[in-house]
Amino acid sequence: MGTRITPYTAQDQESKKEQVARMFDNIAHSYDFLNHLFSFGIDVLWRKKSIRILKRHLAAQKLEGGAKIMDMATGTADFAIEAVRMGLTDAHVTGVDISPGMLDVGRQKIQKRGWSKQIELMEGDSANLPFDQDTFDAYIVAFGVRNFEHLDKGLSEMHRTLKTGGLGIVLEFSKPRHFPMKQLFAFYFRFIMPTIGKLVSKDAAAYTYLPESVQAFPEGKDFLKIMESCGYQNCKCIALTGGIASIYTGVK
Ligand SMILES: C[S@@+](CC[C@H](N)C(=O)[O-])C[C@H]1O[C@@H](n2cnc3c(N)ncnc32)[C@H](O)[C@@H]1O
Repeated sequence: MGTRITPYTAQDQESKKEQVARMFDNIAHSYDFLNHLFSFGIDVLWRKKSIRILKRHLAAQKLEGGAKIMDMATGTADFAIEAVRMGLTDAHVTGVDISPGMLDVGRQKIQKRGWSKQIELMEGDSANLPFDQDTFDAYIVAFGVRNFEHLDKGLSEMHRTLKTGGLGIVLEFSKPRHFPMKQLFAFYFRFIMPTIGKLVSKDAAAYTYLPESVQAFPEGKDFLKIMESCGYQNCKCIALTGGIASIYTGVK
């Protein structure tokens, strides 16, 4: 599926999955800080919008109480925490990630808020999920799919674990197409972000991998086609903030 973009090309005996897990373990301590800094906090608004879509879906299915939700590539659990903060207090959110370092930070945040009953985090790979089919009412995945070693496998696995009628919500970076956002974004992403990212996270590769992986990743109609080929129906795309990010939805 297109060019293989990995964080640490020099160590290419490692799989993309291994490299990505190692990279997120390395930057876990500064991930939240840099995430909000680089996006000027807009990433929080994007997650909130995604959760409003999730809540509308659950309400339409009369599932607000007791819904089972998966937060795939949960990282430090921001999406799962936001879902509970926005009122899904009766839901059960299972966060899955390949990086133990990110999960550790996430667990501390959940414990601090006293939400261990609502949110459970576990190590796992999107390509091989330890859940039966028809387990979840919905899943959310924020800035995760771009990092999957096997995008099709991940989308298919998540589809398998959804109940019929369940909703998949993917939030991912995309590329603005129009002046001046396109030029500003390219400059910011290519020069500003890698420089500050290297200084703060001490991982030089992580913040050059970010723009490279966004550049190579399918977006808009191309991503919707991939979702459809993995079995999703009624697939839709919403462009956010001039096209910097997009929300994709699809139903099983
Ligand atoms: C950019 S972070 C996003 C974290 C979080 N969802 C958020 O919104 O901040 C991407 C996460 O995807 C995880 N990841 C990458 N490939 C994965 C895979 N195959 N299965 C599960 N998690 C994966 C990484 O370990 C990392 O924590």
